[in-house]
Amino acid sequence: MAKIIIGNWKMHGSQALAETLVPRVASFAAEIKSKGEIVLCPPATLVPLVAKLTQGSFLATGAQDCSAETEGAYTGEVSAVMLAQAGCRYVIVGHSERRARHKELNEIVKAKAEAAIAAGLIPVICVGEQLAQRESGLAVRYVTQQVRECAPSKGQFLLAYEPVWAIGSGKVPENADIEQMHQQIAALVPGISVLYGGSVKAANAADILSVPGVSGVLVGGASVNVDEFCGIIAASGE
Ligand code: PGA
Repeated sequence: MAKIIIGNWKMHGSQALAETLVPRVASFAAEIKSKGEIVLCPPATLVPLVAKLTQGSFLATGAQDCSAETEGAYTGEVSAVMLAQAGCRYVIVGHSERRARHKELNEIVKAKAEAAIAAGLIPVICVGEQLAQRESGLAVRYVTQQVRECAPSKGQFLLAYEPVWAIGSGKVPENADIEQMHQQIAALVPGISVLYGGSVKAANAADILSVPGVSGVLVGGASVNVDEFCGIIAASGE
């Protein structure tokens, strides 16, 4: 089945990066006849530019967060409707960096996912355990609770399993652990596509994507490097 490759630029990038990376990734995907769904999630200010650059290509645009509110006195926030109008098809919600730095709890993550669905976007809901939970054997129980409390009851969405200790660390769980968690999430939300995220690179993408139950990858650091990101697209099959 076609894989989903999502690049989360985090707070990296510039107009110049978008103008060089997007056309190169688009032509690479066309060249290898990639059947994957490839999504670029730049910082909010670059969303309109990336959406324009991806028009007519295999690529889609996403954002990294949205407000749970539709409109109003919420200084600094951007609504899902605004992101849809700016050209987004997807939005990441509940990324561990937002959970940690902005104290986003499951309740708010679910509200954001519901706001995204209402605006016609596909939310990519991130879940994942901390190292201490993995080491004490509580990873599956913790992620189960996150999924139960974050998943909307209706509408289309994706889940991304991102162990917090694997993000930006170069560490990746054993394939068996990835498989176990993906199976558990699929059992909780039948029919869902579950992506893996955390230190995905061109060198390990094929291995991770071959794990049963892995529908795609959510890529951070490697997504702002054209060669790395194209290598991951190549690993996702033609
Ligand atoms: P990483 O980040 O690929 O740099 O580990 C993944 C993520 O945070 O989504």
